[in-house]
Amino acid sequence: MACKRGALIVLEGVDRAGKTTQCNRLVEALQLSGRPAAMMRFPDRTTTIGKLINSYLESKSDLEDHTVHLLFSANRWELVPLMKKKLEEGTTLIIDRYAFSGVAFTSAKPGFSMNWCMNPDMGLPKPDLVLFLQLNHAAAAQRGQFGTERYETSSFQQTVQRRFEELIADTSINWQVIDASQSIDEVHENIKRLSVKAMNAAEDWPIGELWT
Ligand code: TMP
Repeated sequence: MACKRGALIVLEGVDRAGKTTQCNRLVEALQLSGRPAAMMRFPDRTTTIGKLINSYLESKSDLEDHTVHLLFSANRWELVPLMKKKLEEGTTLIIDRYAFSGVAFTSAKPGFSMNWCMNPDMGLPKPDLVLFLQLNHAAAAQRGQFGTERYETSSFQQTVQRRFEELIADTSINWQVIDASQSIDEVHENIKRLSVKAMNAAEDWPIGELWT
């Protein structure tokens, strides 16, 4: 590698935990401190596959549950060449949701094992840090109504939260749980500190493979 690689940092959490706000704040802070950083999000609704997913999430079309799971995974794989290029160029990527959302959401549906759900994402670039924004159900409810997209119901989100808890127990991933009930600034400071530490640790190591 000609230069130090960037780190792959993922933010996960249930709806309304503040992931998108925090991703934007983190990218801005890193750039201001002179460290190249860019944000990505999954699903990336701009690609051909992403448009199919968007139509499904907005309930404009129906897709069989296994099929949509594989589309979410394909949407990540199609961005892997770009992700690797940026990381190798030294840009740190801050990603709003990744394979963990894929597994937590699909395995919250009846008849899906976590193992089946993990399979298509095996071998993706492995995050150097996964920040889980933890927000209990009551605190999330205080932040207002759920949106109108598919999955945005209280009971489904509670099942998703339990699936995330099972994923967080996997010590092969560098999970850090953040109390998202704190102020935006406090959450940001926590996230920034952990991210800089992960970036410094990652720069001399090759990019890993997820769940292999
Ligand atoms: P968003 O609101 O962050 O754009 O996410 C869209 C929805 O898609 C959200 O309810 C979580 C869900 N999702 C999956 O079901 N599987 C996945 O792989 C990802 C990334 C998101």
